[in-house]
Amino acid sequence: MKIEIDHIGIALHSINSALNFYQQLLGIDKSDEEILEERGIKVAFLYVNDVRIELMEPIREDSEISNFLQKRGEGFHHIAYKVDDIEKVFEKSQELGYRTLSDKPTIGAEGNLVFFLHPKSANGILTEFVQHINE
Ligand code: CO
Repeated sequence: MKIEIDHIGIALHSINSALNFYQQLLGIDKSDEEILEERGIKVAFLYVNDVRIELMEPIREDSEISNFLQKRGEGFHHIAYKVDDIEKVFEKSQELGYRTLSDKPTIGAEGNLVFFLHPKSANGILTEFVQHINE
């Protein structure tokens, strides 16, 4: 199975204030922002060669990153691996007894298929798998 790092997710109170660092100091371009209504977050991607940085900001108090921000503050949130057969990885995760955060892959940012492994099943790292749909 082909696997590579797709992106690294960073939880922020404000994407705009973090962009000063990424754009002014490092000159990294960002993609357009996208609202993920169900998850209660806004995301923007920065491109660093083949790896992307996903900046995530809550758009409401019960967003999926609100607890994280409250408990741990801004910072590293998850790592995402790009795979070519997400159903297969999902089934294997289930077979091996790893804890997933959904009962099947769902539509995530950019319309891609995603699922997450709970940090307790992945050595303390919230782990996302992504299969790109439009390539
Ligand atoms: Co992500």
